[in-house]
Amino acid sequence: MKSEKIILQDSSFPYVMESKLRTVTTINGKEYLYFAGTGYFQLQSNPEIIDEAVAAIRTYGIGSATSRTINGTTPLILKLEQRIADFFHTEDAAYLPSGYLSNLAGFQALEKMDIYDVIFIDENAHYSNISGALATGKKVVKFKHLDVKDLKIQIKKYLKKGRKPLIASDGLFPIWAEIPPVPEYLKIAEKYDGAVWVDDAHGVGILGENGRGVYDYFQLKSERLCMGATLSKAFGAYGGFICGDDRFIRTVKSGNVMTGTSSPPSAMVGAALRGLELVKNNSKFLKRLRSNALYLKAKLKESGIAVENNYLPIVTFSTGSSEKMQNIQRWLMEKGVHIQFVKYVGSGDDGVLRMVVSSAHSKEEIDFLVTSIVKQL
Ligand SMILES: Cc1ncc(COP(=O)(O)O)c(C=O)c1O
Repeated sequence: MKSEKIILQDSSFPYVMESKLRTVTTINGKEYLYFAGTGYFQLQSNPEIIDEAVAAIRTYGIGSATSRTINGTTPLILKLEQRIADFFHTEDAAYLPSGYLSNLAGFQALEKMDIYDVIFIDENAHYSNISGALATGKKVVKFKHLDVKDLKIQIKKYLKKGRKPLIASDGLFPIWAEIPPVPEYLKIAEKYDGAVWVDDAHGVGILGENGRGVYDYFQLKSERLCMGATLSKAFGAYGGFICGDDRFIRTVKSGNVMTGTSSPPSAMVGAALRGLELVKNNSKFLKRLRSNALYLKAKLKESGIAVENNYLPIVTFSTGSSEKMQNIQRWLMEKGVHIQFVKYVGSGDDGVLRMVVSSAHSKEEIDFLVTSIVKQL
């Protein structure tokens, strides 16, 4: 991009990405082999998606300057909602300004429908999941991470007779890529006439035979299972969504988030439409992602680094001290490799080293990553 020199340092955001997301990405003026973030298929730089985004702006302008419930609904948004519902095999879907807000919109709608009285939420659920729960003003009880036994204890303690629980969790946890025991959550929800809410921001596109997320992974179907997610990760676009049955989605569509925010930018609607289509019609993306993840994990194991043996693209490890991990990350950057040292929900106070392999990486790039890490440990 030809432009005046951009200011490149800000202590809140030490890494400034100066190119499109690619396997080789420019950060702070230098090219790095990039193994970070959440662009699991790196569709964020896919030319078809970019073209679609540009075409949408040309037709509909940047945005509507009004909310969906006033004049901000375009034919493109309606088409996107239909395509999301088609992809996830639900009756309908609602497109929202962000995955962050999808949690709030989901909790509010379920409350309006009188689905629950108390929210029981995994203690490591994403910031947006916990904030959404707290914003309802309902009682929120945290249970130990992934711990069905503790969930049962908390329900016994805090759910009064005749009251209904909403059991909330992420669908795939962003740091350690754990998959929560959703079938167990569903059984508990059924027992107490409640429901399950999953923020599947990282699971959609990735989990399950067809990339439909954590419910697809467990092959679960139930009207008690509710979900929200984002289009900003696997699908290469931006914006959140909720999918489900007609009544639930109608309630989301008439809720405060939809009423009180400008409708999402046209470019992102176009991008999301093409992103969904690409993921749906290209099983090779998912195949390649899984084979890259398995390859990376096998190589790390061969080198004596303990990692989970599965096809998930998030690979995280900890060496104990924060300082040591930051040194490893810095040293890797000197060698031209970028992985994340990150403090995030679920990482603990010391942080972790997190890598993400995408479907776009080559075996040679993965080999280079592993060799570089092994030299440093
Ligand atoms: C689990 C989870 N939920 C929600 C979000 C927020 O999604 P969005 O970036 O679309 O607001 C994230 C974000 O990065 C996330 O990791």
